[in-house]
Amino acid sequence: MKEIRNPELLQKWAAAQKRRSRTIGFVPTMGALHEGHLSLVRAAKKENDLVTASIFVNPAQFGPKEDLKKYPRPIQRDRELLRKAGVDIVFLPSAKTMYPEGFSLSIDPGPVGRILCGKFRPGHFAGVATVVAKLFNMAQPDKAYFGAKDYQQCVVIKNLVRGLDFDLQVKILPTIREKDGLAMSSRNIYLDSGERQRARAISQTLFWVRSQILSGRRDILKIKRQAIARLKPAVDRIQYFEIADPENLKSLGRYQLRMVVLTACLVGKTRLIDNVIMSGH
Ligand code: PAF
Repeated sequence: MKEIRNPELLQKWAAAQKRRSRTIGFVPTMGALHEGHLSLVRAAKKENDLVTASIFVNPAQFGPKEDLKKYPRPIQRDRELLRKAGVDIVFLPSAKTMYPEGFSLSIDPGPVGRILCGKFRPGHFAGVATVVAKLFNMAQPDKAYFGAKDYQQCVVIKNLVRGLDFDLQVKILPTIREKDGLAMSSRNIYLDSGERQRARAISQTLFWVRSQILSGRRDILKIKRQAIARLKPAVDRIQYFEIADPENLKSLGRYQLRMVVLTACLVGKTRLIDNVIMSGH
C-alpha cells in the first residue's frame, strides 16, 4: 500500500492508471475505521482494478461546538486495516493542503442539505459536498463507495455527482450493524456502557417501524408517533424521527412503496443517526 499526501501526486497516479485502462474504486473516510468502512473497501476491490482510500477528518463539516478536536484518529490502526484489506493507495492530505490560506469556496447542496441533520448541523452538508467534490477531483475514481448509514449524505453526494457532472458512479452499501443492531459508527466509542445499552433502542425502533409496515399497516403518521413514544424513554433527545421519500427526503404524510425511516438521537452527549430503507414490500 502506497501513501500519498499530495493531491497532485494522487492525480498523477490516477492519470497513469487510466492510461493503462485500469479502473479505480474510491473509499473516502474520516478514519477511525470499522467493519462498515471495510465492507466498502471489499466492494471496491471486487468491482475495480485498484482501490484508493482517503483518511481526512474534514474540519469544514464540523460545527463550532462539535467533536472535531476529539474525533478519534487511530491512524496506525487505520493504516494497518486498509493495508490488510488490500487498498492500493491511502490518501492522507493535511487540512492546509485541502484548504490553503484564502480558500473560501463552498458547494451548497440545496434544500436537501438543510432538512433533517442539516437543521441541527448547519453547514455540515456544504462541508461534505465541498470536500467530496475535491476528493473526487483528486482521486479520479470510476466508482466511489459510501455507507447507507449516512443516508442523507448519500442523497447529497448523488445530487452532487449528477448536478456537477462528475464522471463516476456512486455506490451505496448497506449499513453494517453490531450484533444487537446498533449501526456501526466511529462515534460509538464515545458511549459508556449504560449509553451503549440504551442506544440499542434506536435500531430496535427503526426495525419495529419496518415490521409494522411489512405486516400491512399503512397509517404511517400513527406509526411514527408510536415509534417516537417507544424511543423517547431510552435516549436523551430525539432530534428528528421521520418517514420520508428516499429520493428527496421530504417527510411523508401517507404510505408509499419506497420510504426511508430516519432518526438522529442524542444518547448522553453522543449524537447517533440511523435509518432503514423500505422498498417494494
Ligand atoms: O462519511 C464520512 O466519513 C465523511 O462525511 C466523508 C464522506 C468522508 C467526507 O468527509
